[in-house]
Amino acid sequence: MKKNWALAAILSLVGVASPAFGQGQLNLYCSVQVEWCQAIATNFERDTKVKVAMTQKGSGETFAQIRAEAQNPKADVWFGGTGDPHMAAAEENLTVAYESANLKDLHPWARKQWEQSNKRAVGVYAGALGFGFNRELLAKKNQAAPACWADLVKPGFKGEIQMANPNSSGTAYVMIATLVQLMGEDKSFEYMKALHPNINAYTRSGTAPIKAVARGETGVSISFVHDAVVEANAGFPADYATPCEGTGFEIGSMSIIAGSRNLPNARKFYDWALTAPAQRLGYDAGKQLQTPANMSAPLPPKAPDLTKMKLIDYDFAKYGKAAERKRLIERWDRDIGSLPRG
Ligand code: F6P
Repeated sequence: MKKNWALAAILSLVGVASPAFGQGQLNLYCSVQVEWCQAIATNFERDTKVKVAMTQKGSGETFAQIRAEAQNPKADVWFGGTGDPHMAAAEENLTVAYESANLKDLHPWARKQWEQSNKRAVGVYAGALGFGFNRELLAKKNQAAPACWADLVKPGFKGEIQMANPNSSGTAYVMIATLVQLMGEDKSFEYMKALHPNINAYTRSGTAPIKAVARGETGVSISFVHDAVVEANAGFPADYATPCEGTGFEIGSMSIIAGSRNLPNARKFYDWALTAPAQRLGYDAGKQLQTPANMSAPLPPKAPDLTKMKLIDYDFAKYGKAAERKRLIERWDRDIGSLPRG
């Protein structure tokens, strides 16, 4: 026994892992909801004996953190979060190329993300943008649920809508990019200006607005619609609609961080996260309802079906460009974020 402890101490000092004491470690940045992040950390640890240190943060926040740490990277893998900042990170060489043997098992849209990012970001799920609403609260106010982007700017929704801030949230950036693609840039910013009096808060996290809807703190949110079903399944009077004019969607992505200190484990995690059993964890353990990227992982029950929606042909290459993303967010800060509260 004494001998084993001595051996383990020596191995840990020289940075070599012994099977009995694990297979080293993995620092994971995770931008899906915390239940799913915890589920993948626990299950990967159990399956591989690699010790996982997980940090959960929104997509924009994680991108900013990886950028700030570029000279001294702290994380190995970034799992989840909207695809645009993963694309921007790829372009800025903050992430590295990797070709997993499991790519062949993914839907074409997940592989396309990988091709468009020069093999640096791969799709792990997809989800559509829309409106969440609290049907009881709206009924009490005699207010019909929004069905179109045009409805959100109506005076009946004054102070009734919540959305996230695009600096921290990938969801909010997908909304801006969607509106720009639907209306043209100047019209979309006029639209967001008209929307501003109806917004009661620009939250840090993309999922905060639908949680506020679920708890009756606000009538409407601009959210990924799968997150509305998560709240409905938890027993809240939450519902969703996808905009009649058409809407955008995300390809939630995964990347390996440049300068990863645990590269073999980063690759091991990446391969594992693309397998059908790992992809099922989103729903089975995390109660999340995105469309899985692995073709053998089923669409969870009650999950919004993207094939039945009016989706735009979202230009991930263009809106995932670092300069375009930065420019649009800066314009949002200038034209919308700085407006006085109504
Ligand atoms: O985990 C829920 C979710 O909506 C994901 O589908 C999405 O990628 C992520 O949150 C976006 O979060 P945020 O807007 O905070 O970056």
